[in-house]
Amino acid sequence: MLQKHSTNKDWYKNVCIYQIYPQSFCDLNGDGFGDIRGIISKLDYIKSLNVDAIWICPMYDSPNRDNGYDVRNYFALQPKFGTLDDFSLLTAKCHSLGIRVIMDMVLNHSSNECDWFVSSASSENNPKRDWYIWKKGKTNGDPPTNWEAIFGGSAWNYDAKTDSYYLGTFSPYQPDFNWENAELRSVLFDVLRFWLEKGVDGFRLDAINFISKHPDYPDGTAGPNGLAPIRPFVCNGPKVHEWLDEMKVKVLSPMHSMTVGEADGSSAEDAIQFAKEMDMVFSFDHVALDVGTNFTFNKNIPLPKLKSILSEWQNKLRGKAWNALFWENHDQPRIVSRLGDDGELRTKSAKMLAAALLFLQGTPFIYQGEELGLPNTRFATRSELRDIEMRNAFAAYVDTGLLSEEHMMRFANYKGRDTGRTPMPWNGNYGAGFTTGTPWIKISETYKTLNAERQEADGDSVLNWFRTLIAFRRNNAVIRDGEYRIYNPDHPNVYEYTRILNGSGYHILCSFSRNQIDYVCGFPGRKTKVIFSNYGDDFFSKTGKLRPFETIISEAELP
Ligand code: NOJ
Repeated sequence: MLQKHSTNKDWYKNVCIYQIYPQSFCDLNGDGFGDIRGIISKLDYIKSLNVDAIWICPMYDSPNRDNGYDVRNYFALQPKFGTLDDFSLLTAKCHSLGIRVIMDMVLNHSSNECDWFVSSASSENNPKRDWYIWKKGKTNGDPPTNWEAIFGGSAWNYDAKTDSYYLGTFSPYQPDFNWENAELRSVLFDVLRFWLEKGVDGFRLDAINFISKHPDYPDGTAGPNGLAPIRPFVCNGPKVHEWLDEMKVKVLSPMHSMTVGEADGSSAEDAIQFAKEMDMVFSFDHVALDVGTNFTFNKNIPLPKLKSILSEWQNKLRGKAWNALFWENHDQPRIVSRLGDDGELRTKSAKMLAAALLFLQGTPFIYQGEELGLPNTRFATRSELRDIEMRNAFAAYVDTGLLSEEHMMRFANYKGRDTGRTPMPWNGNYGAGFTTGTPWIKISETYKTLNAERQEADGDSVLNWFRTLIAFRRNNAVIRDGEYRIYNPDHPNVYEYTRILNGSGYHILCSFSRNQIDYVCGFPGRKTKVIFSNYGDDFFSKTGKLRPFETIISEAELP
């Protein structure tokens, strides 16, 4: 029986959470777009992963310019997903299976089609005018500041009706709320209450550390396009903690919500501050090492740097805050295509990457398809892309001649957000078992061989590896509380760490190399028994050689 957060406040510390991108998960009504009934039809599969909660990306009514992160009506669902009754059925079924439901909630901005914004834009005297951020242009006719929106172009959008600009940190379709306004805050808290009363167990708060802007609205240092990156002016602003504390006191605590905040641009020290208001935050430094400026990327990341970021978060948060662990989500490419191999070593590298993450302290979030070790979906032409971010990038850089189409396609196929947003491959039949209709985005060509049904039948599959490791770490005191220690931190190819509680625990060895390498463990203690290994023999202990993407997890004792 599920206990509410109030009686089992720390439930999330013992479990894994599975992330669902609903429009690509399962389409039961054949319109090519996933739906709530589709999710319900896959609950047995979700249960079989041994996860204890699901996080569902936004399903609210939306024009879908940014796939639901542009909410038109916070109290209604997008009809393509289903009805509120379907949603109640979903939460009821989840709860009867012991699965908690975490909703994505977008409180930094709404859609420009939201009634609140339409009223706000209608006149300077409208009572909702101050719910959004409006400013007059500069005397020379320029926008209020030179900030560049995250999806490109000026972050200020001119509205002739009132001769003013509104702020859209992400895009013109996503006007930012003005959190300075107490009435707006209280309406947003009502939104949270509405969904908690519907039975959801918590929230993933989208872009939540962007709600407090720089009070002076200064210009930034402009790049070649005359615009300055917006993040320094909207990230972790002066009132973010005050407002999050208000949200916690008024809604999250009394209604026993589990809360994970998306906190882009936050350090481990910031995460410790956020721990006063939220259960944990997502940070992104560890998945930003392979990306450069001007849409460049370099797959060969320096492993010591990655290890030092992971270690810093493990060490600094210990006893003070809680880690949200992840390799993938709907904004990130597939991890085997980044840090592993998406060719013949795909299975080996997917298992190694899973092990590297799942033995760390924190709550792991596993993105749909990650448990199959899916590689990036490849797009042949820009017309196949659906994501606002990449489409805008093509318009701003390719159509203006700044970058070639080939360059941008290479980037889109490596780092573009659509790479991991294509339909979940359930089987090798038409529509990958995702749809009987025409999918909203292409289905990866790999679905015939790489799908859940096949991996179900293969005891050695990535899917079954995930199931085993997730079950193993559930309620495991060493993984929850054990001390983290890294060995040979400067080694360029191997991540070696231990988790030890009262003198014993686990030794985790992960080779990130695609070649066989010699390795001498830095752990001074005793490895007593191998418990998991992706090659399944004692080659390493006999030869001192680690094979491509080899991982070995052993029980261990301190000397
Ligand atoms: C972060 C979400 O994860 C992403 O998908 C979205 O585009 C932005 N926030 C804006 O809401």
